[in-house]
Amino acid sequence: MSSRTRSLKIAYSAWPTGRHASAWRLPEAFNGGTVDPVYLADTVRTAERGLFDYYFAGNAISSTADAQRSWHNDVFKIEGFTLASYAAAITRHIGLVVTVNSTYAEPYDTARAIVSLDHLSGGRAGLNIVTGVEGIDAPAQNYGQAKHLGRADKYGRAEEFLEIIQSLSDSWESDYFVDDREAGVFIDATKGHPIGFEGQHYTVKGALNVPRPPQGQVPIVHAGSSEQSFAYGARHADIRFSPFVSTDWNRDYYKRVKGLLPQYGRDPDDQFIIPGITFYVAGTAAEAHAKFREVQNLVVTQYAPAQVGDLVGVDVRSIPPREKIVSVFDEAVFTRHPWLGTALAAFGDETVTLQDLFHYISNKGHLNQPPVVGSGKQVARWIADNFEARAFDGVKLFPPYARTPLDAFVDLVVPELQRLGVYKTAYEASTLRGHLGLPIPANRYAARRETPARVKIPA
Ligand SMILES: Cc1cc2nc3c(=O)[nH]c(=O)nc-3n(C[C@H](O)[C@H](O)[C@H](O)COP(=O)(O)O)c2cc1C
Repeated sequence: MSSRTRSLKIAYSAWPTGRHASAWRLPEAFNGGTVDPVYLADTVRTAERGLFDYYFAGNAISSTADAQRSWHNDVFKIEGFTLASYAAAITRHIGLVVTVNSTYAEPYDTARAIVSLDHLSGGRAGLNIVTGVEGIDAPAQNYGQAKHLGRADKYGRAEEFLEIIQSLSDSWESDYFVDDREAGVFIDATKGHPIGFEGQHYTVKGALNVPRPPQGQVPIVHAGSSEQSFAYGARHADIRFSPFVSTDWNRDYYKRVKGLLPQYGRDPDDQFIIPGITFYVAGTAAEAHAKFREVQNLVVTQYAPAQVGDLVGVDVRSIPPREKIVSVFDEAVFTRHPWLGTALAAFGDETVTLQDLFHYISNKGHLNQPPVVGSGKQVARWIADNFEARAFDGVKLFPPYARTPLDAFVDLVVPELQRLGVYKTAYEASTLRGHLGLPIPANRYAARRETPARVKIPA
């Protein structure tokens, strides 16, 4: 086991129009953030004010206007490297993670972009590799293909994709630069290495036309839910981006995912499991629950009892929608469906009606990824408890709307986490590897030359 002290990580996921389908309808919501440089700058600066470990740019490579009905973030998504480069220029410490879909991206282009970002940010870049969702063909159709690849092919590509990026990252040894003006020697050509990669999916000669990144290798993030994804993450990922379902579910997940690492010769502490979670935080618990309820009441849909009934396994078609669920469902139903208790907790009391429940389930994501609602103190306690129970190593904020939820978290939750002693009170490093406590790996080409491997903890 590693001797590093376990410390809570916090990240922010850029969802400019929020992670809730109807919260954008709140009077105070700001909905123009998708491409607004002032808003985007505000969010990354606020995340840095909260000492967050990284700012995360998700990825989408197709668009549908219909998504506005359910998931308006799927209509527009600003390009991640562009966003992260912009963020790099206005911050000093926060890590910057960019998502790339390896089924469609070119590894040489991706290596150039992520290594360049690592230079421009002073060692703060991270790469989230995703592979695309089975059965969703719209992205394929933007890349000259009719259908998304099957799992075997997409993970075959993902393996080669990362191998190429990591070889290219090493393709210039750090001491390549001679700058000998008298002798007229600019670089030491023996320090640059063609990678000569020939695989099933890619052929890349190299070397990269950007010097080795300050972090040596940028940290790798991975998300997915198939067995292939778990194997890929266990082999390569420094951070696994996961869902949060419940403390019990996540403790099992944590054990299972970390348990895979030794099979690949890795220490379980060398990977961080960080789920995305939506928080509703306010000065008091009552205000937070009231805001959550206000958001639910904005759901644009007609009450459909059959949907509630199908989910819970009880026919509620003849029951008035204003009936309280605690009077309609008996204890056995609550035991069979623990998410009903989670829904009650989010609303904050037992006045939840069938109609409220319908609103709750209408928001994509609530069932599998319930929100956490409360005062700053309560939310901090919840995070600290789950961190200590090893349900996760940190949390990534999925703001329900823009922009007050991020400020509320930084102003109300972060100080409480600090008071509880589970979160840092100042940045202790200025690289993403530094935030994660990961050493800089030796350059494979330098190591092959029998230069002693230089392993140092970045500042
Ligand atoms: C928690 C989580 C977050 C994800 N985030 C993204 C994302 O930002 N962009 C994306 O294209 N796919 C995202 N995905 C999709 C996965 O990376 C992956 O493409 C999908 O789960 C299918 O792979 P699988 O068949 O191995 O599960 C996410 C998946 C999970 C579980």
